[in-house]
Amino acid sequence: MANKVVLAYSGGLDTSVCIRYLQTLHKMDVITVTVDCGQDDDFAEIERRAKAIGAIKHVYVDAKDEFARDYVIPSIKANGLYQGKYPLATALARPLIAAKTVEVATKENAVAIAHGCTGKGNDQIRFDVTMRALRPDLKIIAPIRDMNLTRDVEIKYAKEQNIPISTEAKKYSIDLNLWGRAVEGGNIEDADFEPPEEAFQYINFKNDKAGYVEIEFDQGVPVAADGKHMSLTDLIQYVNDKAGAHGVGIVDHIEDRVVGIKSREVYEAPAAVTIIEAHRDLEKMVLTKHELAFKRMVDDQWSWLAYAGLWQDPLRTDLDRFIDATQTRVSGKVRVKLQRGSLRVVGRQSRYSLYKNDLATYAAGSTFDQSLAKGFVELWGLQSIIANSVAGTADKKQQQQQQEKLVGGKNRK
Ligand code: ARG
Repeated sequence: MANKVVLAYSGGLDTSVCIRYLQTLHKMDVITVTVDCGQDDDFAEIERRAKAIGAIKHVYVDAKDEFARDYVIPSIKANGLYQGKYPLATALARPLIAAKTVEVATKENAVAIAHGCTGKGNDQIRFDVTMRALRPDLKIIAPIRDMNLTRDVEIKYAKEQNIPISTEAKKYSIDLNLWGRAVEGGNIEDADFEPPEEAFQYINFKNDKAGYVEIEFDQGVPVAADGKHMSLTDLIQYVNDKAGAHGVGIVDHIEDRVVGIKSREVYEAPAAVTIIEAHRDLEKMVLTKHELAFKRMVDDQWSWLAYAGLWQDPLRTDLDRFIDATQTRVSGKVRVKLQRGSLRVVGRQSRYSLYKNDLATYAAGSTFDQSLAKGFVELWGLQSIIANSVAGTADKKQQQQQQEKLVGGKNRK
């Protein structure tokens, strides 16, 4: 009997090619695992494809709720955006897919685990680190990386080997889950080329009308949309449809990969973009400015760890504890206006609001005692004022000395 290898299988080009390579080059029995993180694929078709290429067994794992609960929720609480832009959809799913693959490998007594990542991206790091953290004894095989394959070579190999690939795969490399969609490759590798409408799935480019979505948060977690309570997976789908219908949710930026490459990345994540904007806005209403300033640094660090494949690092869970503590007051409702690709928070309310109208108002009835401000301002600017005056005096002295030198020099002649 041949040794068993468990392959994280998406049904795409890379992983389909991997099945055949693992069989022929490594002479192993391949068990494929597809982890459902809300990618809305035809899973029966994926199983058929895996078996047609040669997998001896296929395992489907429904991890949608786990993904939402243990990965997306912490990311919402952390306002998870890498480099201020990317909602981390792919990055969050990888450690979960890796963990499920390891689980199957243990059950099946496999000697190795495999993934279809290239050596140029972040996904290899996310897979390898999680796999090694959970089962350091298992061998990791990454055929695409090991053989330094390019997409064109893979397509050629797939054709030669009668490996079925989707027509979409020829145009773009797409990674999709509940939290968003990443589109890579093809004509959008040209950083100066505007992604064509066909690259997107949720976005309506023709709708000019404005729409609104109201999101309710309970301790940092979105629990209702437009007054309807729903599960997080349903809520994300609802907001995806609604924001996408108004053109909201495209992210197009230059991203720094962990391996040093700068890449042009295009994402489509209407729900993630809208929910994080709303969540951040609510935090601004209920957290003190000191909490906000500190949490911003924590959020950035959290996003970096998630992006860089360090989900398993204890620092991530340490930061989660801090973030959780800040979320106890992040409850309330945020109303977002959506129109022609833009979004704007236009209203918010919370029982924990630190915004007090009677303090802020310029109208009569303010409870703010303006006379207190005079002394405060004087003390507040004290060092800045002294610094300016010291610099002014020092400048004058320097000028004087220079002049004296000049005059002295002339006299000597
Ligand atoms: N650049 C993004 C990331 O590192 C997206 C990667 C998409 N992955 C893919 N296999 N198409 O998370």
